[in-house]
Amino acid sequence: MRIVVYPGSFDPITFGHIDLVRRGMRISDLLIVAVLANPNKKPLFTVDERVAQVKSALKGFKRVKVMSFDGLTVKFLRKVSGTVILRGLRAVSDFEFEFQMALMNRKLDPGAETVYLMPAEQFTYLSSRAIKEIVQFGGDVTGFVPAHVKKALERKLRTTNLVR
Ligand code: PNS
Repeated sequence: MRIVVYPGSFDPITFGHIDLVRRGMRISDLLIVAVLANPNKKPLFTVDERVAQVKSALKGFKRVKVMSFDGLTVKFLRKVSGTVILRGLRAVSDFEFEFQMALMNRKLDPGAETVYLMPAEQFTYLSSRAIKEIVQFGGDVTGFVPAHVKKALERKLRTTNLVR
């Protein structure tokens, strides 16, 4: 049974993430979407909010589980008996960070293999950060995030002035 872990901040989940989950399902028996609590990154949404948003976005996806985690990804991978870390690669600009992370994770746990998948072209310019900024300045993010995420963003950003 191949258990693949797809870690990320998912602050918030976008159609790009969902596209990657669909692709990841093709190379896994069980895909665990692992939402990092990480208060260091000062996420806009709490980890519980993000987990709920991801669960709702992936409702009906069989062989997909959504969990939160804290600490090292490789430790979480071991805990859930996973062997593969899945990440998306959108553009060359992602490469440096991802390359460093993959090699670091391999060093931390030689049993951890990182696999990169490319999202569909129409999502290559999508990022959670851009989504937050667009909503903050009154732009329309329909087509980038599920409706419930759009609503949550508008609600949150109306009461928060800061986009992280
Ligand atoms: O969605 P993001 O913010 O690009 O995801 C980054 C994430 C969560 C994959 C990365 O920050 C991570 O793995 N954090 C957990 C801590 C860890 O394992 N650090 C060592 C890897 S260099």
